[in-house]
Amino acid sequence: MSGGFLRFESISKSFPGVKALDTVSFGVESGSVHALVGENGAGKSTLLKILSGAYRQDSGSIVVAGEHVSFASPIDAIRSGVSVIYQELHLVPEMSIAENIYLGHLPNRFGFLESTVMLDLAATQLAEVGVQVDPREKVGRLPLALRQMVEIAKALTHDARIFAFDEPTSSLSAREVSRLFEIIERLKESGKAVLYVSHRMDEVFSLCNAITVLRDGKHVFTENDLSQTSRSEVVNLMVGREIEDIYGYKSRLIGEPVLEVKDVVAEGIRKPASLTVRAGEIVGIFGLVGAGRTELLKAIFGANRFASGSIWIDGVKRRIESTRDAIKAGIALCPEDRKDEGIFAIRSVKENNNLSARRRNAHMGVFIKERWEHWNALKQVERLRVRTPTIQQHVGNLSGGNQQKVVLGRWLSENPRVILLDEPTRGIDIGAKKEIYDLIYELAESGVGVVVVSSELPEVLGVCDRILVMREGEIVREIDRTEANQGLLLELALPTGDKSGAAA
Ligand SMILES: Nc1ncnc2c1ncn2[C@@H]1O[C@H](COP(=O)(O)OP(=O)(O)OP(=O)(O)O)[C@@H](O)[C@H]1O
Ligand SMILES: [Mg+2]
Repeated sequence: MSGGFLRFESISKSFPGVKALDTVSFGVESGSVHALVGENGAGKSTLLKILSGAYRQDSGSIVVAGEHVSFASPIDAIRSGVSVIYQELHLVPEMSIAENIYLGHLPNRFGFLESTVMLDLAATQLAEVGVQVDPREKVGRLPLALRQMVEIAKALTHDARIFAFDEPTSSLSAREVSRLFEIIERLKESGKAVLYVSHRMDEVFSLCNAITVLRDGKHVFTENDLSQTSRSEVVNLMVGREIEDIYGYKSRLIGEPVLEVKDVVAEGIRKPASLTVRAGEIVGIFGLVGAGRTELLKAIFGANRFASGSIWIDGVKRRIESTRDAIKAGIALCPEDRKDEGIFAIRSVKENNNLSARRRNAHMGVFIKERWEHWNALKQVERLRVRTPTIQQHVGNLSGGNQQKVVLGRWLSENPRVILLDEPTRGIDIGAKKEIYDLIYELAESGVGVVVVSSELPEVLGVCDRILVMREGEIVREIDRTEANQGLLLELALPTGDKSGAAA
């Protein structure tokens, strides 16, 4: 067995109907950033949860600095110097940032009176990760990206020797990502062992120096010198087949306008926003986190009230004052934050898939409806290749990427006229990404208007016919795909007065 400051020795873990990890062994050196990659459901998060003491392995052991360790709870893991930052954030929305940062550790150090000390320390810690925000602010009020930075600040307060990150950049903007990478570089330099889970090959190959690939719960590959392998080899090992052009863009016949947004002003939209999406068209909205993209989608979908402006569907002005109105008008929104808005974790895959379409099918008899729902759930699971033992499984038990696919399935069941997709491939593995792009093309091909919000530049450039760039609550430019490139989009998206350096 190979060496390593941190070693997994023959770790296995099963859940009902799923062998999540099957005798997984590999080592992570100190002073190293070790990528852990694999398809959705490969077992990455499960391994991290075992490392953090959140789950107990069925068999096998963890070795830290030559000693077998056993974590009965997350507190044990923290005491042994292990800090894990989860894919699904674990902050308490009702508590302040400072309280979250110090939650669960240093229990005796802060009495009630010492809360100012805590606030000071929290402020220092936040500055460390480059976040300027009042530590007394409630976490629930923060945008996703900031919550993530708070989670990282929290992990840094433990004097940990081992750090594990589970897809930490999936909700961060370009600038926050580079900030995080600096922090991780520093951890590496100071001799920490870092385990880094990501679906973004760019990140893996720029940040990491070692890599392990899991497939179907099994260890398939470890290379301690990343330069000895290549992106295509890694992708091949992950998915077991070649993936060439993942975007596979084809032009389509574009029809009449299906969605027209005229001069909408709403929460987060500072200047009247107008856009048109035609039948069969895929329109991208690019911008940094906080540029107002999500707010614009929410306004169109009736989730945020708008102050002025109007929405037209198929040339008819529609009154949209609630999401119910929007759904009735043929608009669907697949939200960014699946945990808050997208899924019902304690319900089954089947129920989640049918949640929206159910209303539409209310006229059917109970028996027919049941049959239809069963068929529909199976169809969505198959077409999105959701990895689940059965359609009865609770969605909360699926891996992150598979939850995302269930959210998509729910909206595809709707047969909408316009579908608004907010970061549709966040946390989704490279093979499944291609499937989602193909689905987007299929939807467009069938005459649906598609809007894709994405922070991933290659995705926007690869998939969309036309791209709108948003900056600080305003649509600043519309560009045809033939004229768009990375440099131009970033230049337009960066806040005014901040045009230097950040494009890196
Ligand atoms: N609490 C649980 N109950 C039942 N099944 C579970 C549970 N946690 C994980 N699983 C299953 O174990 C397998 C591995 O899941 P895991 O979350 O580790 O995947 P992952 O590699 O992190 O995937 P992703 O890239 O989508 O986040 C999946 O099939 C998942 O459905
Ligand atoms: Mg995961």
